[in-house]
This record gives sequence, C-alpha cells and structure tokens, in this order.
Amino acid sequence: MKTIDLRSDTVTLPPEEMRKAMYSAELGDDVYAEDPSVNKLQEAAAAAMGMEAGLFVPSGSMGNFVAMLSHLGRGDEALLGSDSHIYVHEQGSASTLGGIHMKALPTQEDGTMILSDIEHAVSPDDDHYARTRLVALENTINGSVIKTAYLKDFVGLAKKLGLATHLDGARVFNAAVCLDLKPADLTRGFDSVQFCFSKGLSAPAGSMLCGRKDFIKQARRWRKALGGGMRQVGVLAAACQYALDHMVERLAEDHETARALAEKIANLDGIKVNWSRAQTNMVWFDVEINGLSAGDLVHRLDKEGLKVLDAGPKTIRCVTHYGITMKDIDTAGDIMQKVVASCGRAPVAGNR
Ligand SMILES: Cc1ncc(COP(=O)(O)O)c(C=O)c1O
Repeated sequence: MKTIDLRSDTVTLPPEEMRKAMYSAELGDDVYAEDPSVNKLQEAAAAAMGMEAGLFVPSGSMGNFVAMLSHLGRGDEALLGSDSHIYVHEQGSASTLGGIHMKALPTQEDGTMILSDIEHAVSPDDDHYARTRLVALENTINGSVIKTAYLKDFVGLAKKLGLATHLDGARVFNAAVCLDLKPADLTRGFDSVQFCFSKGLSAPAGSMLCGRKDFIKQARRWRKALGGGMRQVGVLAAACQYALDHMVERLAEDHETARALAEKIANLDGIKVNWSRAQTNMVWFDVEINGLSAGDLVHRLDKEGLKVLDAGPKTIRCVTHYGITMKDIDTAGDIMQKVVASCGRAPVAGNR
C-alpha cells in the first residue's frame, strides 16, 4: 500500500536532476566564503528577494534566529504574531537563548496583525520596559497569503515607529506564485527575509537569510557562533540552486491539488474545511464528529495509508507538495470518505 503523506511539504524528496546537480557541484570551504556554489546561490537568492546580500543557513529556524540576533540585543523587544512560527514553534529561542523579549500580538484569521495593535504595543522609553525594536511578519502563514496592500502599510508603519522589520518567508514563493508576483514584490521595504528551500521547493535542506550587506556581515558572525558555518556545503547549495531555477513555477500545482482536496472533503459529514486558509498548498479542517478528536481521526487515516497532521484538539492540517498527484488526492479523498463513514458517529449537531 502506497502511503500518501500530507503532513508537511518538508517530506518532499529531491528530484533526480536535483541529485545530479548535487553530485557535480563545484565546491570550496564556505567558512572562508570560498564555495562557488554557495556564493552563486547567495547572490541569486538576494537578487530574487530584492536585497543586497544573502546568507545560506542550514534551516529556517536558524535563519530566523540569526536574524533576530543580528537585529536585536539583550533587553530589546520584538513584536510577533501570536500564531507565528518564530513565536510558537522555535522554542522561543530568541528569548531563551538570545535575551530578546518577544511580545505576541493576536494573529488575525487572515494571518495579519492589526496595525493599531502594533502601534499600541511599542513600549514607552521608560526603564520598566524592554526596548521595542523590531516587528516580524510571516508570509504565507498557515497557508494564507498576506496581500501587498497590507505589506505596504505594515512596513510603512514600522518605519514610522522606528522598528526594524523581518519577514519569515519560509513559503514566500508560494505566496508569490499564488499572487502571480515576484517574491521581491512581497519583501519590499523589509529589512530582512528568511525563506526555505526544503519545503515546497523540495531541496533536502537549506534556507536563506537576505538583507543589507552590513546586516548579513553580522548574521554571518552569529551563524558561525551557532555552529552553522559549514564547509563544502555547495553540495546542498547546488540542490537549492536547482530548486530556485526549476521548482518555483510548479508550486502552482500544489495549490491546485490542495484546492482539489479541500473540495473533495468539504462535503463529508462532520468535516468543516477552513476556506479562508485554503489559498496555497495547505488544507485545514475541523473534525466535528461526536466523541472523535483530531488525534483519533489522524490515527485511523494513518492505518489506511493517509498521513495528515494533528494540529489541535479538533483541527487537522494537510499540505500538498512535489510528489503528490491529482490521483493521490482522489485516493486521499476516498480514504477520508471511507474512514469518516466508518466512524459510525453523528456529526456534532448543527454541522450539516
Ligand atoms: C513559517 C515557518 N518558518 C520557519 C520554519 C522553520 O524551518 P526549519 O524547519 O527549516 O527550521 C518553518 C518550518 O516549518 C515554517 O513553517
């Protein structure tokens, strides 16, 4: 039985041509900045993001952490969305290891923070408070795309308030493809951006932090301190270069398969699709079946060969990616239908 794995786009395996590019990569010692494949990738990535320079890092978490450390010092404060990856899913590293105070503002259903919340969250110049120095945003967030009009207002406000801006753009290419824009259109005005090669772009590892030259110089120091200085890492950079050159446009296919999946399961009794998030490669839905938790359903689906993510007491996340075909989506829909029907329990009253 083939397993269909929709837990995350991080489970993608590198295509054959990507592996070949890794094999034949030109290499050098990147701690001496002498790996030609890394240097080429950093330049290409910075150009794609409309920024001066790039720094190749092992992971998105390190990219975000290095960004926070490079922008801020001990006793400084960052404003973040309450649902953001940096705040929720990175062990609070900016605080626990970096001495940075993180203040969370409510993430709205569309992934934004209310601009007046940001304005009111800036601490006064007073010894009682940490110094508010940065505000960070995530795009895409939970599959939702943040639109350019908001981005413009966001960076404009940050500038007015004297705050640096960081974009966690782990999936910024999904946002760009969805809006039919260049990623640079979504990073305009930000001081830094981090994006991942190892999600929908399907490279085995690697993320890029981009920003101004002096910022990247500082970030390079932090990367080394954190043990992220790698040597002949052009083997990975070559995979990421292949991803940048060949794997971006196809993200549209993931958006189509995600949409198809959402439509297929939306009619099942007891399944409530979150349509507001169904914009890129993610499908979120709530399980509204008496006595059945999301965890129970995840377990039952797993036994039938469909892996999805338990994302809360009643909430499940599915992510489409390279390697998942429309046929897989048909099969996934059939498994969902069969398993939900076999639960033999009534949907929660009021849900169809
Ligand atoms: C929005 C976002 N930012 C950052 C990361 C961290 O990336 P990594 O897993 O490479 O550390 C992730 C990972 O899923 C993510 O979804």
